[in-house]
Amino acid sequence: PDPKNIVNLVEVGPRDGLQNEKGAIIPVSLKVELINRLARAGHLNVEAGSFVSPKWVPQMAGTAEVLKGIEKQPGVHYAVLVPNQRGLDHLVELLDANPSNPPLTDEVSVFVAATDAFSRANTNCTVAESLERTAVVTRNALDRGLRVRGYVSVVIRCPFSGEVDAKRVREVTKELYDMGCYEVSLGDTVGLGRPHEVAALLEEVKKGVPVEKLAGHFHDTSGTAIANIMTALEHGVRTFDSSVGGLGGCPYSPGATGNVATEDVLYALQGSKYHVAGLVDVPGRAKTVDLERIVDIGWWISEQLGRENISRTGRMVKAR
Ligand code: HMG
Ligand code: MG
Repeated sequence: PDPKNIVNLVEVGPRDGLQNEKGAIIPVSLKVELINRLARAGHLNVEAGSFVSPKWVPQMAGTAEVLKGIEKQPGVHYAVLVPNQRGLDHLVELLDANPSNPPLTDEVSVFVAATDAFSRANTNCTVAESLERTAVVTRNALDRGLRVRGYVSVVIRCPFSGEVDAKRVREVTKELYDMGCYEVSLGDTVGLGRPHEVAALLEEVKKGVPVEKLAGHFHDTSGTAIANIMTALEHGVRTFDSSVGGLGGCPYSPGATGNVATEDVLYALQGSKYHVAGLVDVPGRAKTVDLERIVDIGWWISEQLGRENISRTGRMVKAR
């Protein structure tokens, strides 16, 4: 495949998806099994959990046990989201207490919002305070030899303050990039963005950060996530976050759904000029992420959680 057309997926279901599951606490063993299945199906990037306050996000409380339980696939990054120094300290203690080769993880994700209202709701501080905090965490994580991925939330619309200024998104994205994030993922947190809005956003953000350092994180509330991905691809973005079975939601946006389903992204790109990079050998082709196996995982985890499988591709394959 032409290196210019290699697409990377970051599977965020075990973090962005499961963090939003209502009801009973999901057992560590189920999270571990989900992550193992996703990596075995070919994913190179699986976000495994977060070290955030369990009062804020109870479903992520077992992340240390999850990291210890995963069967590490060489070459796979199992990122962990950290909101503050406390979260990073927790991770570093865990790594120090459990030296292994490969290590339990080599990557953290940090996150800020483009609006103060969302920042307060999600992290109890303003964007400026969040950036200050994140700069320290990023520095310390880099010093510890971890790679750091950044997220910006509410890049198109904020559930509290409405339309978001693309210039503000550009500034915040550039700050994360300048801090040392190897990539910054632009989050349509509420999932209401449309292709023309994504295009306008990228035109602006590209002025501050090279497009190959950007990723797209599209929740799919309005059914436009695949269209948004295709638009972002035309603009040169090559990394996208997705969630098996479309797991997830957003606690601050009633009706918001999860990330775009991984199955749907794989199906949309199958047979096109784009090649989704992965761990699994496909005879006669390069390594990729295996669509059939991802479909099976989508059905399996939906059943385990007693939730609907919202992947259109997953449903289509089952109905065949
Ligand atoms: P706070 O209440 O302002 O923090 O929360 P605090 O420092 O005052 O601490 C409050 C309590 O939390 C204390 O415990 C701390 O020890 C504890 P207490 O004394 O009351 O028993 N605490 C922690 N515990 C464990 N791990 C930690 C930690 N830090 C403090 N790291 C804070 C501030 C940032 C901690 C809180 O707001 C928080 O955890 N927020 C995280 C929210 C979150 O995880 N959101 C979802 C992830 S982001 C996302 O989904 C968006 C994304 O997908 C992109 C998109 O779609 O837009 C990435
Ligand atoms: Mg998200």
